Amino acid sequence: MKVTLITGASSGIGEAFARQLASDGHDLVLVARRQKLLHELCDELMLKHKIMAHYIVADLTQGRAADDIFLETQRHDFEVDWLINNAGFGSAGDFATLDEQRELSMIDLNIRALVALTHKYLGPMRERKHGTIINVSSAAAFQPIPFMATYAATKAFVSSFSESIAEENRSFGIRVLTLCPGSTETNFFAASEIDRPVKLKGQQRSEQVVETALKALQSRKTVAVSGFTNLVGALLGRHVPHMISTRAVAKALRARYQKTEE
Ligand SMILES: NC(=O)c1ccc[n+]([C@@H]2O[C@H](COP(=O)([O-])OP(=O)(O)OC[C@H]3O[C@@H](n4cnc5c(N)ncnc54)[C@H](OP(=O)(O)O)[C@@H]3O)[C@@H](O)[C@H]2O)c1
Repeated sequence: MKVTLITGASSGIGEAFARQLASDGHDLVLVARRQKLLHELCDELMLKHKIMAHYIVADLTQGRAADDIFLETQRHDFEVDWLINNAGFGSAGDFATLDEQRELSMIDLNIRALVALTHKYLGPMRERKHGTIINVSSAAAFQPIPFMATYAATKAFVSSFSESIAEENRSFGIRVLTLCPGSTETNFFAASEIDRPVKLKGQQRSEQVVETALKALQSRKTVAVSGFTNLVGALLGRHVPHMISTRAVAKALRARYQKTEE
């Protein structure tokens, strides 16, 4: 059975992907840690859209998680035709004072799990000459961000990696989309222990981010920035010399995140 596997489907953008794709008739495999939310979402989507929805409870920061997920999909004879690597979290603060293990866990989730799952499912997609991968990056990928140093760097990795494999796999009939949301109304800021979102006008809803992604796939784009303001920000981030943009961001955020010696 062909399925769409979505990581981080228990809330936010991942949940919105699950809802939209279920209504488009996709059979789903949903992955996250919060079993109750996954269970309820699967039940609701199966009833409402007459699709199959299966969930796998996994902590993707754990080394074996991608192997376990791959084995479970094989055991059920699920053919993962769409893979949406969406699970992720961030942190904000003065890097030297942030919790080292949490920063490393972020790298395990945002980078390591995404690379592992992409690698596992790309092989079978190439054999079938068919497949779609959406890797959720961020508008934060376009420039280094002082006081969100690790998070921005993980997303820069996701964008660079995903844009490369999009080209490597184009001739195999596989679409790879790098999706770059800007500030979006989800559980992200709470889960990332960021006291309040950086105030941005026009924070988007998850449904808008998903709509951007699905339109981008239809028009065969490989990178999609969701929201006009975020697109402008991304273009600036890419073209303004980083020495200038990092100084400006650091100046804006230093008072909030760094205690300077009197
Ligand atoms: N919201 C924004 O402003 C924004 C902007 C740009 C990019 N993004 C990116 O969008 C993606 C989705 O985030 P969101 O905004 O939708 O935030 P969210 O509501 O916090 O969703 C994050 C999802 O990831 C899952 N997750 C977190 N840690 C996990 C782990 N160790 N193992 C497995 N699953 C885990 C969470 O489920 P459990 O807690 O149940 O595990 C949840 O389903 C992330 O990659 C984020 O970096 C968000």
